[in-house]
Amino acid sequence: MKSKASAPGKVILFGEHFVVYGVKAILCAINKRVTVSASKIHENTISIKSNIGDLNMPPNKPITEIKSPLKPFYFLANKMIEKHNQNTGMEILVQSEIPLGVGLGSSSACCVAGAAAISRLFSETSKKEILELAIEAERTIFQNTSGADCTVCTFGGIMEYDKKNGFSKINSEPNFHLVIANSEIEHSTEAIVANVKQFKEKNEEKFSNLCKEESELVNNVLVLLKNNDLSGLGKNMLKNQEYLETIGISNEKLRSMIELAQESSFGAKITGAGGGGCIIALTDESNLENVVEQFKKKNYECFSAKIDFKGLDTF
Ligand code: MEV
Repeated sequence: MKSKASAPGKVILFGEHFVVYGVKAILCAINKRVTVSASKIHENTISIKSNIGDLNMPPNKPITEIKSPLKPFYFLANKMIEKHNQNTGMEILVQSEIPLGVGLGSSSACCVAGAAAISRLFSETSKKEILELAIEAERTIFQNTSGADCTVCTFGGIMEYDKKNGFSKINSEPNFHLVIANSEIEHSTEAIVANVKQFKEKNEEKFSNLCKEESELVNNVLVLLKNNDLSGLGKNMLKNQEYLETIGISNEKLRSMIELAQESSFGAKITGAGGGGCIIALTDESNLENVVEQFKKKNYECFSAKIDFKGLDTF
């Protein structure tokens, strides 16, 4: 028997970094997916094949001994084999359309699709249970994850999240396209979050004012999303980008990418931790092709994405 599942990647539309200090953030799932298929095999091994490499290990190894980025899949397979007390191996195949390590939720999508494909080999599992498993698996590689990414990858659509109140789905279906361009500068989320903490400690008052402004901005954005006001949303993206500049997570290359995007999009900003990774530019059918062309002409890796409203899919 083969079990297959897919889950979308995500972007942070508004509120990254400030969310760490209690401000509300807005995330959305994008229509780029990870697909995972899993089947039980007779050999006593957990075998994982992916476009970033392979992992072959017998079950029951302590998770701390696994050094591969494919560790969450091993964790999930091992956990399910143990839980159901079965004498089986497993073959797992991972196919991803989401670029890795650039803040687009590839690891969360892997954990969600992996948790669904693997657990459903043993029993029917609800979306809620799959999400819990996925967050547990993601913690094997990113201990302090808030769970926000796995949540949006599981349920799809747009969500608001803050530390105190958790997640709630935004029931708007705005009709925009995002152009996502990759700076190809590697970044460490952990290091950048630590730099922002330093900035905050040196500039308490300034930072607290920025948090207030970001909070107001996010509240305005919630109305603009309902009204599908792309011009207003774009302006707020640029305003949000100014706040991200102030806390020091931008750089020359990201700034020049945002300038380039501004020539024909409604607005653009960094998405995620910054320091590298990706920018997003807001477009609709009238300017999408132009923005993509502009980035391609300058040899940027770039693609367009829409909101994914489906979330986790199993088949
Ligand atoms: C990283 O994708 C988002 C940050 O806000 C960190 C976090 O929320 O954990 C920078």
